[in-house]
Amino acid sequence: MLVQSALVALGATVVAAVPSLTVQGNKFVNAATGSEFQVVGMAYQIGGSAGYDPSHGKDPLSDGKVCKRDAALMQSLGINTIRVYNLDPYLNHDECASIFNKAGMYMILDVNSPLAGESINSEAPWESYYAGYLNRTFAIVDNFKGYPNTLAFFSGNEVISNVEQGGTAPPYVRAVTRDLKNYIKNHADRAIPVGYSAADVRDVLEDSWNYFQCAIDGEEDNMSKADIFALNSYSWCGESTFQESGYDQLVAMFKTSSVPIFYSEFGCNTPSPRVFTEIQSIYGPDMMGVFSGGVVYEFAQEKNNYGLADVADDGSVKLLSDFDSLKNQYLKVDWASVQSVKASTSSSSNPPKCAESLIKEEGFSNNFTLPVLPPGAQELIDGGAPGAVIGKIIDIDDYSFDYAITGADGSKLTVTVSPLADDSTNVAGSNSGTSSGSGNKTENAGFKVGAKAAPVVLLPFLAGLMAL
Ligand SMILES: *[C@@H]1O[C@H](CO)[C@@H](O)[C@H](O)[C@H]1NC(C)=O
Ligand SMILES: *[C@@H]1O[C@H](CO)[C@@H](O)[C@H](O)[C@H]1NC(C)=O
Ligand SMILES: *[C@@H]1O[C@H](CO)[C@@H](O)[C@H](O)[C@H]1NC(C)=O
Ligand SMILES: *[C@@H]1O[C@H](CO)[C@@H](O)[C@H](O)[C@H]1NC(C)=O
Repeated sequence: MLVQSALVALGATVVAAVPSLTVQGNKFVNAATGSEFQVVGMAYQIGGSAGYDPSHGKDPLSDGKVCKRDAALMQSLGINTIRVYNLDPYLNHDECASIFNKAGMYMILDVNSPLAGESINSEAPWESYYAGYLNRTFAIVDNFKGYPNTLAFFSGNEVISNVEQGGTAPPYVRAVTRDLKNYIKNHADRAIPVGYSAADVRDVLEDSWNYFQCAIDGEEDNMSKADIFALNSYSWCGESTFQESGYDQLVAMFKTSSVPIFYSEFGCNTPSPRVFTEIQSIYGPDMMGVFSGGVVYEFAQEKNNYGLADVADDGSVKLLSDFDSLKNQYLKVDWASVQSVKASTSSSSNPPKCAESLIKEEGFSNNFTLPVLPPGAQELIDGGAPGAVIGKIIDIDDYSFDYAITGADGSKLTVTVSPLADDSTNVAGSNSGTSSGSGNKTENAGFKVGAKAAPVVLLPFLAGLMAL
């Protein structure tokens, strides 16, 4: 163990990271290789709604031991991105962010939370848009801007779920997007994408997309335009099909998108157990030209029954059969091909112009005169939001944790994060995990995104979890 720790410490001079991605037209692109990136995501809100508890210094990325456990499980599944909803910018997330980074996973972060004063109110947005609200969202940017695996921020989640809300909320969400982009421009050293996560309510979906992606004539640098657009969709249930699920309609709607489109949530849970056959459609010819993957809802079991893993109060985890079903589906995908599609420079379509005629649904806002900054907010954008913990990647020299893991079949499992080599993202089937007791943690090369003919060995099902 001593020898091994010394080796790890030596290697620690280089902070390895997931490759940096940029948004080019309607795709995420690995800038170094020119390959398009597909999100293979997992909604991660460990502890459920109680998992975000700023008064007790707790949120889903604040406990390194828990992140070691969950990153290991998600790595064995094939996840390359987590989506985290409710975060406290005044907590330190260095350990968790660094663990997910080395496990080859990006983070998509919501800047809002359900607590009072921490999100835009769908019914009375003007009441919720003030400097104190922006202050916390800017602090989220400060908190996460330094991590190379921060993929994007959501300025809003399902703020517009019916036409009535569509009448008033869109200008406010677009204003928050503008404010976040201005804050990032002033205080971050890269342009981290900002976008919206929509409810898949067909009355308002197309208008929401157009309202956020359109370019306002004469607006400097298109600062209020969303960089990405995502939707929470539960229309593929059981053994469905591309047509039956209505996924085909989404592809038809979004095929002219000027920004990346992906599912910020998917995974209908009726019927149960789930079969996750949509994976083959999402990461296949049906959708890949138009969508950039999706985020499965969700890692940990809650009352609403969407979880893949049951987490007990003592931190022990029992995987559910849905975990294995999802993993099986991921293992059927040819990830080397999926993640090495060359981005075509011609595929980037220009955004539509913001105009009244762009909005189709009667009652949905077609007012592109955005609310002006509330008093005190410009000072924050210029001078910074005070008090945030500014995150940075740290070295993790020990990935072990002592929570018991049980497979869906009742077997005891041992799994730890395999730290990936630089410029790698996690991919299903490439990480065999590490059996404790072998005393030999070999660096896993992972999957080099875009590497020519990268050999991705599809290990047999359950390869990531070595039964004891
Ligand atoms: C911003 O948040 C910090 C930390 O909580 C606080 O000290 C400051 O007063 C806030 N500023 C505004 C304008 O809300
Ligand atoms: C805004 O975006 C449009 C479309 O990409 C582009 O043509 C225009 O030049 C941009 N405007 C500014 C002021 O950057
Ligand atoms: C459009 O919104 C702006 C700011 O939110 C507001 O001042 C203006 O009155 C609105 N215009 C119309 C026609 O409703
Ligand atoms: C660890 O495993 C690698 C690959 O199987 C092997 O080459 C190496 O000798 C092992 N090291 C130890 C200390 O067992």
